[in-house]
Amino acid sequence: MNAFMTFVFTIFTLVCVVFGAPVSPRDVFVPPLMSPAAGAVWKVGKTYEITWDTSKAPGQITNPVGRLILAHNSRLMNLEHPLAQGFSILAGKLNVTIPKNTAPGNKYQLVLMGDSGNYGATFSIVA
Ligand SMILES: *[C@@H]1O[C@H](CO)[C@@H](O)[C@H](O)[C@H]1NC(C)=O
Repeated sequence: MNAFMTFVFTIFTLVCVVFGAPVSPRDVFVPPLMSPAAGAVWKVGKTYEITWDTSKAPGQITNPVGRLILAHNSRLMNLEHPLAQGFSILAGKLNVTIPKNTAPGNKYQLVLMGDSGNYGATFSIVA
């Protein structure tokens, strides 16, 4: 960033702070996942209810359509086939089925994507 941009951004940030607006020019909403809880053990082929906290949702959301992706060892898996997609990021809950072809293991996480991606707690998948 050059000095002028830094200056502009600083002014913008100050204006936002003074007027109580979010610092970001867009309302980026990244709701935290509440379930699965850390250490949960889920079975392949079973359906589970995922929940996330929508209580801090801003009035305007840049992208209100969510996608839920499985991650293993922090790596997003099967991006082209999300566990779920096209749901409202404001729904706060969703039922998903762990695909039958998922390899059992630890260090699985769900990633809720809307404006941005948000990793949930680490859980295990068993056969
Ligand atoms: C998920 O499934 C359970 C059991 O069928 C049901 O009680 C619950 O309402 C469902 N939740 C959602 C978000 O569809």
